[in-house]
Amino acid sequence: MSDSAFHYVDGVLHAEGVSAASLAEQFGTPLYVYSRDALTQAYRAYADACAGRNATVHVAVKANSNLAVLNVFARMGAGFDIVSSGELARVIAAGGRAEHTVFSGVGKSAAEMREGLEAGVKCFNVESIPELHALNEVAKSLGKKAPVSLRVNPDVDAKTHPYISTGLKSNKFGVAFSDARATYAQAQAMDHLDVVGIDCHIGSQITEISPYLDALDKLLELVGQIEADGMRIRHIDVGGGLGITYDDETPPAIGDFVTTLLDHIGKRGHGAREVYFEPGRSLVGNAGVLLTRVEYLKPGEEKNFAIVDAAMNDLARPAMYEAFHRIVPVVKRDAAAQTYDVVGPVCESGDWLGRDRELALVPGDLLAICSAGAYGFVMSSNYNTRPRAAEIMVDGERARLVREREEVEQLFAGESILPD
Ligand code: LLP
Repeated sequence: MSDSAFHYVDGVLHAEGVSAASLAEQFGTPLYVYSRDALTQAYRAYADACAGRNATVHVAVKANSNLAVLNVFARMGAGFDIVSSGELARVIAAGGRAEHTVFSGVGKSAAEMREGLEAGVKCFNVESIPELHALNEVAKSLGKKAPVSLRVNPDVDAKTHPYISTGLKSNKFGVAFSDARATYAQAQAMDHLDVVGIDCHIGSQITEISPYLDALDKLLELVGQIEADGMRIRHIDVGGGLGITYDDETPPAIGDFVTTLLDHIGKRGHGAREVYFEPGRSLVGNAGVLLTRVEYLKPGEEKNFAIVDAAMNDLARPAMYEAFHRIVPVVKRDAAAQTYDVVGPVCESGDWLGRDRELALVPGDLLAICSAGAYGFVMSSNYNTRPRAAEIMVDGERARLVREREEVEQLFAGESILPD
């Protein structure tokens, strides 16, 4: 978590100037808490490194799509990276601009393409030949030309968890490197497509720069070939993926990451092209925590369990990827710590949030699950008919409810029973 945004004051965890204990009291738990300052600082680190360098930031909406979060970025002039027309609607509702938005995703429907074209998105990141045909048809029906970039799969190992690695040949994403030149030629031949760029996204939670440089080298080689074939590649989209510190990872600082990539592109003679970044996790991950309350302590022969009121439906990452999130007390307690598995109330053994954690606890204590701002609330579900958590944004001394806690009745409001 961002140490400047989340810190202890007299043993009590604070989000900026607000006590996390008072937030839990006022808004209940489980509760997602975001820091506007942490969001702003992370965005500035990208924007400052891009300033004067013909490079732009497109916030990956999938990492955290709360309107207040998107609005913080939109106010700072961010572009966005979306993967559905639902995300497009959120960007617009949050004050973002379609013309600064790139539309990614391996399975865009014709309806989504139409919505993107009508809104005037900046570029479609296309991932296959059938998708090129589909987009060409939709653009034709609207009498438009669709700006396209091909997502090329550079076949590099991002050295991250297999579920979030996307740049290998074995992944479903992108056009194979060996087919890319011919695929560009096909795109060029379609009347309602306008080839404008090239993109890749090699994975997520990447903590080294070298896989990016390997991917870039392959992309730039291809750019030369595509331009020899008569197309003009105006921008290079390097995707997202920069990792954050959950535990003891040491990813490059945002500014160093951006500068190294831009310098590399410049050194290879491509400095005149606009570069797009699509960060998600590195903008929002450490700007959020999930507050939860201990319901029961359950000592066991092999394990002690701390059963809390947040569960895998609130934060899926541990269950899904065995992801590590630090878990810290909201109020530090001067007592002997014990080793606990921190688990939720959902009826699955996979419903855990942290394993083997040293904590001094009594029932009723509050815990903060750290680094929960990215792929946290957005991946939450209503499994076990659990209403999804509320979301709060802290701004200095003020806290604002930016998403109400769901009510059980809402969860089955659209359902009905058979008439006979
Ligand atoms: N651009 C594209 C095309 C993407 O697919 C992604 C993420 C991003 C940008 C943003 O990547 P980031 O900077 O956040 O790494 N649910 C997983 C992460 C899935 C990432 C999917 N793509 C997790 O919780 O770790």
